Amino acid sequence: MVPQLHVVDHALLAHRLASLRDAATPSARFRRLLAEIGALLTMEATRGLPTVTARVTTPLTEMDHRMLAAPEPVLVAVLRAGLGLMEGGMQVLPEAPVGHVGLVRDEHTLKPSQYMLRMPPEVKTRGAILFDPMLATGGSAIAAVQRVKEAGAPHLRFVCVVAAPEGVAKLAAAHPDVPIFTAALDEKLDHRGFIVPGLGDAGDRCFGTE
Ligand code: PRP
Repeated sequence: MVPQLHVVDHALLAHRLASLRDAATPSARFRRLLAEIGALLTMEATRGLPTVTARVTTPLTEMDHRMLAAPEPVLVAVLRAGLGLMEGGMQVLPEAPVGHVGLVRDEHTLKPSQYMLRMPPEVKTRGAILFDPMLATGGSAIAAVQRVKEAGAPHLRFVCVVAAPEGVAKLAAAHPDVPIFTAALDEKLDHRGFIVPGLGDAGDRCFGTE
């Protein structure tokens, strides 16, 4: 058991994930589904954001109302596939600043290497939500979380779509303070480090590359 793992159970999420996994789903539809899934997962990942009570004047009367206690957290996409997932996060948190971490996994060693990093200064005060559809060996997620922590994020959450047990265990061990939100906990990794049953290579399916 990994206490920081949240497998989000929702009929609409399951329905979209079924289509996302389908090998026959073309890129344009894959991107749209990924964004919709990103929005649904962001709702869950932000459920516990701190709120305060403020006075609101409706056209009829005044009332006490719950609202966010702090500005929206920074959204960080792990390139490339995280871009598609974060799209949905931006719809749910339209005022959030956006950061990018460019990581690519070597297909032989499975080790991630970084090719870009851009982080808005608000990350130091607002914390961050990281987006990457795939948590496979966990190497990319661990490196991305590390970069965002080094940029000064006081707290962060990790959002993915499919996770392998190996990746969850590694990320949780390396960053036990980071809650993980996923739409599915899959069975295993194969010998190439692909999640099984998974959905293939999310970056390639998003952008039509091979
Ligand atoms: C994929 C995926 C994750 C990473 C997961 O990206 O989007 O970032 O691999 O693997 P890991 O948990 O074993 O590190 P990839 O490196 O293929 O880059 P891309 O998104 O540009 O296709």
